[in-house]
Amino acid sequence: MSRTTDYAAALRTALRRAVGAVDERELTRATEALVSRYRSVAPATAPILASRVHVAAYAAYRMPATHAALTRALGVVAARGLEPRSLLDLGGGTGAAAWAAAGVFDTLETVTVLDQVEDALALGRELVVDAPSAALAGATFRQARAGAWPDLEADLVTVSYVLSELDPAQQEALVADAMRRGGSVVVVEPGTPDGYARVLRVRSALVDAGWTLLGPCPHERDCPLAQGDWCHFAARVNRSAEHRRLKGAELSYEDEKFSWVAAMAPSLAETQSAEDLPARILRHPLKRKGFVEFQVCRPDGTAGRELISKKAGERYRSARDAEWGDALP
Ligand SMILES: C[S@@+](CC[C@H](N)C(=O)[O-])C[C@H]1O[C@@H](n2cnc3c(N)ncnc32)[C@H](O)[C@@H]1O
Repeated sequence: MSRTTDYAAALRTALRRAVGAVDERELTRATEALVSRYRSVAPATAPILASRVHVAAYAAYRMPATHAALTRALGVVAARGLEPRSLLDLGGGTGAAAWAAAGVFDTLETVTVLDQVEDALALGRELVVDAPSAALAGATFRQARAGAWPDLEADLVTVSYVLSELDPAQQEALVADAMRRGGSVVVVEPGTPDGYARVLRVRSALVDAGWTLLGPCPHERDCPLAQGDWCHFAARVNRSAEHRRLKGAELSYEDEKFSWVAAMAPSLAETQSAEDLPARILRHPLKRKGFVEFQVCRPDGTAGRELISKKAGERYRSARDAEWGDALP
């Protein structure tokens, strides 16, 4: 993880510079239209980012949140020892995954973002002009449609907040494309029951093809939450004044809820030593006097409650700092 640069702050600055000139009333109207479109669960029949103002609105109100979610997910993947040198972001829009990957992986050398909407790619190019890493500043943003991606491969392929815009057959084809092109694949979706259902289908495709899950699951058995619950996490996003105005919001932060899965191809997994994975924390921990209570997903494929009490010493001190989405100390 690149610890010296605050990529979220650099992205906020780049957004202010690139989107600041757009008429604020138009931006607010486009934001409202996008919010209502993204609440719908129907696949898109035409590009949702239909104009430059829609693209600017998407970048201003969604990109800080998708960037935060991806940063959390990629952080877990980095903790598994992944050190990608190349990134391919399918349906990458304005480049949120590229910003997150550059912030998490110091090893990144090349970044390619593919999307169907040229206006989104153009804004993505503008945002990275003064980016804090050479890989990000030199990123390629290239127009392409799902099903007709150029013949590129990368160590890491991201598919972030894209599946909901596609019908189930297209979703399946996109995931298969990502698996053909990447040594590792990370798929992120909104943290809704619907988004989780899509992630669960991706997880099955990965496991069935013999891929090794890198997160968030500590096992490859059936998901223990599949009956009546949904696996999702939260990433804290600091809202800029512009962001607050656009959303008509008062709080200085929001929590972006997301579902995700990441996996590594069988050829790569062979090079890694088998590890005992820790349980994953599935809810905000309850920090009580003398103990912390967690809901977790365990390596044996079960989910349930774990308590870490003061008697556990150092482990208890780590438990007090642990957050939803972290590994159980
Ligand atoms: C909600 S945005 C997500 C953008 C970005 N990945 C992020 O996380 O912020 C969905 C993106 O998927 C792209 N997309 C949707 N369907 C596509 C298709 N058939 N081919 C290429 N891109 C597509 C859209 O143009 C849009 O940029």
